[in-house]
Amino acid sequence: MDEVVLAIAAEADLIRVRRELRAQSQRAGLGLVDQTKLITAGSELARNILTYATGSVGTVRVEYVQADGRRGIKATFTDHGPGIEDIEAALTDGFSTNRSLGLGLPGSRRLTDEMTITSAKGSGTTVMIVKWAR
Ligand SMILES: Nc1ncnc2c1ncn2[C@@H]1O[C@H](COP(=O)(O)OP(=O)(O)OP(=O)(O)O)[C@@H](O)[C@H]1O
Ligand SMILES: [Mg+2]
Repeated sequence: MDEVVLAIAAEADLIRVRRELRAQSQRAGLGLVDQTKLITAGSELARNILTYATGSVGTVRVEYVQADGRRGIKATFTDHGPGIEDIEAALTDGFSTNRSLGLGLPGSRRLTDEMTITSAKGSGTTVMIVKWAR
């Protein structure tokens, strides 16, 4: 099935990311609530790329996945920004280096079925999320 890579470099890209997540999650059979959870999580991760990985073009790969008889959507957000120094801290409610709410990453984790973050200071960030149809 589909596998689409989109650039994340400007505000207008967020709309395309949301639209792609919606389209693919519908095709994968996610219910309306799960579609919305995935889109909300994806929006936060794309927003983080715009906020923190400034000056580098990020990407999201949206793909249909199947495992153990389940089907779902995997979205992998990659940037070449400054990276996250302390991933555990960044996943804590209220942690922000930007005087913001600090809910994007922990919220995304709660809204999805799987989330993994790969990052190191200076080498960019990759966040992978999966939402399964139920
Ligand atoms: N792609 C990224 N590159 C570098 N640092 C990041 C990235 N995403 C998140 N971070 C770091 O992790 C922290 C927590 O991110 P999170 O999205 O949870 O909160 P926030 O962006 O600060 O606030 P909110 O999303 O609630 O407006 C950020 O403040 C930032 O320091
Ligand atoms: Mg955020």
